[in-house]
Amino acid sequence: MSKKKLYEGKAKTVYTTDNPDELLVYYKDDATAGNGAKKGTIVGKGVLNNKISAFFFDMLAKQGIEHHYINMPSDREMIVKKLDIIPLEVVLRNVAAGSLAKRLGLKEGTKMSTPILEYYYKCDELNDPMVNKFHIKAMNWATEDELAQIEKAGLKINSIMTDYLKTKNIDLIDFKLEFGRYHGKVLLGDEISPDNCRFWDSTTHEKLDKDRFRRDLGHVEDAYKEILHRLTGKQV
Ligand code: C5P
Repeated sequence: MSKKKLYEGKAKTVYTTDNPDELLVYYKDDATAGNGAKKGTIVGKGVLNNKISAFFFDMLAKQGIEHHYINMPSDREMIVKKLDIIPLEVVLRNVAAGSLAKRLGLKEGTKMSTPILEYYYKCDELNDPMVNKFHIKAMNWATEDELAQIEKAGLKINSIMTDYLKTKNIDLIDFKLEFGRYHGKVLLGDEISPDNCRFWDSTTHEKLDKDRFRRDLGHVEDAYKEILHRLTGKQV
């Protein structure tokens, strides 16, 4: 396979493949927080996030969610459909944490009475500012119809993942999704892993996600391994 580096992000590198409709995503061990202000390595993270994401994509597909994941040629690589990425970060929240807790002065762990869906404009230079549907339509980042599809899929994904994770004694606090266009459809893209989700143990409320890195809580790799183990029963 002839592959050319297309884009190197903070946690993943994207390559072309022989098929113009497909890309290869390589999951790195690099970790950043605060939009690159803090940098580090989480040994084995690439393998864990690749496998955890593949697990969630497969699970969501069984419930009718269309996504970009095709297959996993190696432990750190994923073949995906080449999406025309919509420049939005779509955040779903069930419990106050992180920036929501800060912005609204809420105690972390406060349960929301209904899920919250927020949009952020994907732009590192601007630190991904929060935007609403009016900004998105005025800037032509997505159409009304695309936003309707994104909201429907986002809320459904939240409900499927929350219910599933509950059976593994994990609370889904919040998470971030990205979507893109593919042959006239809007598909789920990016990854679903402890890098972009907050997972808390339902009994102890222990954090099993990237907040362990962001907040220097230690045992970062162990938390990622624990998520893969609870999902698949496998160690790595
Ligand atoms: O920081 P904040 O509380 O807004 O994050 C909400 C959720 O979105 C968290 O699960 C976080 O991991 C994820 N997120 C992300 N990428 C960003 C911002 C947030 O994956 N750039």
